[in-house]
Amino acid sequence: MTASAFIHRFEPATGAGSPPLLLLHGTGGDENDLLGLGKMISPGSALLSPRGRVLEHGMPRFFRRLAEGVFDEDDVRRRAHELGDFVAEARQRHGIAAPVAVGFSNGANIAAALLLLKPEALAGAILLRAMVPLSHPPEANQLKAQLGGKPVLLLSGQADPIVPASNSAQLAALLSQAGASVTHKVLPAGHQLSQADVSLARDWIGPIDARAA
Ligand code: MLT
Repeated sequence: MTASAFIHRFEPATGAGSPPLLLLHGTGGDENDLLGLGKMISPGSALLSPRGRVLEHGMPRFFRRLAEGVFDEDDVRRRAHELGDFVAEARQRHGIAAPVAVGFSNGANIAAALLLLKPEALAGAILLRAMVPLSHPPEANQLKAQLGGKPVLLLSGQADPIVPASNSAQLAALLSQAGASVTHKVLPAGHQLSQADVSLARDWIGPIDARAA
């Protein structure tokens, strides 16, 4: 698997000190979708934005699902490793630090899987409307060393018809137990993003420095 195996966009940093962002779109999106969001959250960051390689009725995704909210977990594992390899190659090619993932919906779910399966790929993550991606994640004690302290912002929608409140709470607990430094906020929103998501993400990422990654 080479970096070019993912259709993607790369935009170099325009300012120093901001962490690179790995932008991961939702079902039916593509590599262009989150570039604007990335620029709003962290102006100056390098942006790495792949298109999911799975097609569901022609709509790109980052892994297969069997039904709404029911994931093909073997595929989740395989695709998370593929994405981690892509990130490693893109880092070498572009000379960038480990990125902070910014994922929405299906993109947030693959970012959560990446944190659990290949934590070295990311410096942290903003998970927008994410749910638990794996019913049998690696044991917390196997993960602590690599996930230890990585910052994760999880933003959920109180009225999200796709992600039940109990599921996002479970994801926050899982990532915390695995050693991540999790901030979880539940917004008065549904599955779609709101202005509050942008403001909270911008405020959260501000203090994160690329050199720390
Ligand atoms: C998923 O399949 O990852 C979640 O159900 C979110 C979605 O893409 O609708």
